[in-house]
Amino acid sequence: MAERSLVLANLAEFNRKLCRDCKAVHYILLVEFNEDISYQASNCEQEGLAGELIPLVKNWIAGNKGVVVGPVRLNIAALVPERKTLPYQSGLLLPLNNHMQNYGFLLALGEWLPEQVGLVWAVIGGLVELVARLREEVHLGEMMLAVVKSAVTAIEAKDAYTRGHSDRVAKYSYLLARRMGFDDDQAEMVRTAAILHDIGKIGVRDWVLTKKEPLTPGDWEEIRRHPELGEKILRPITLLAPALAVVRHHHERYDGSGYPDGLKGEEIPISARIVSAADAFDAMTSNRPYRQPFPSDRALRELVANGGTQFDPRVVEAFRALDLKHLNHMLPEAM
Ligand SMILES: [Fe+2]
Repeated sequence: MAERSLVLANLAEFNRKLCRDCKAVHYILLVEFNEDISYQASNCEQEGLAGELIPLVKNWIAGNKGVVVGPVRLNIAALVPERKTLPYQSGLLLPLNNHMQNYGFLLALGEWLPEQVGLVWAVIGGLVELVARLREEVHLGEMMLAVVKSAVTAIEAKDAYTRGHSDRVAKYSYLLARRMGFDDDQAEMVRTAAILHDIGKIGVRDWVLTKKEPLTPGDWEEIRRHPELGEKILRPITLLAPALAVVRHHHERYDGSGYPDGLKGEEIPISARIVSAADAFDAMTSNRPYRQPFPSDRALRELVANGGTQFDPRVVEAFRALDLKHLNHMLPEAM
């Protein structure tokens, strides 16, 4: 139960970061165990409201069985008409179910814009996995990662051309880390960080990310904020602390001309130097609206040509030492 509180507190904070326009988001978890609904509020300030709402929401769910298969907006004011002042006029009721089982419901108090509902629904996919695993008592870090991965999938869904990008960058980064002598635990950390590297793009407007016309200086400024924003988003999740350096520094360049801090050479954390090369390799070998994907040997030649300026020459060397046939199986069109 303590783990569940911690997960909820983390998740509420995480969603506050995701939904920058939401003044506050609070969760009440309603989980059905043996037909008896227990609940937990993630924020103590709302404990009073939670206590009032739980039986009412429980009745609402009982009267609408089979209806709640996706997000449903609940009019909180209508549920507690006798209340003169309410911190929240509405909330989202989200079923925690997968094809196997219904685990219960989550009530996310707050005002939700239509475009935020889709994002939260994707995050809930991770939460369902989390609730399922809570019963198997797996490690908290794995559970939080499941939730965050859902958010990454939601970002990639914004743009068809980036679908699967983080996953491939993670695979290349793991192989590079192992090749460079990292042990399995360290390489797994690099893999996790690589999955999360672009999470800050959640704060970049969709039309800037998918723009076909040349980007304006203002657009670039917005895009270049994503490493710092990503670091801020993940900071509350203490278990992901080792990934923060990659999220912040994956656009630094070896010669010091990158961003956000203009770090140079060995000043850039090695894990960020690895993910930077893996990120570029995937960008080159992926389809883009304006060009065909490069074959892997051409992408490798580009990495070599930019070793010492953009990329760490040691990382480039490790890339060249990877099995090209194996790499070719991982390219976007091979997946
Ligand atoms: Fe990035």
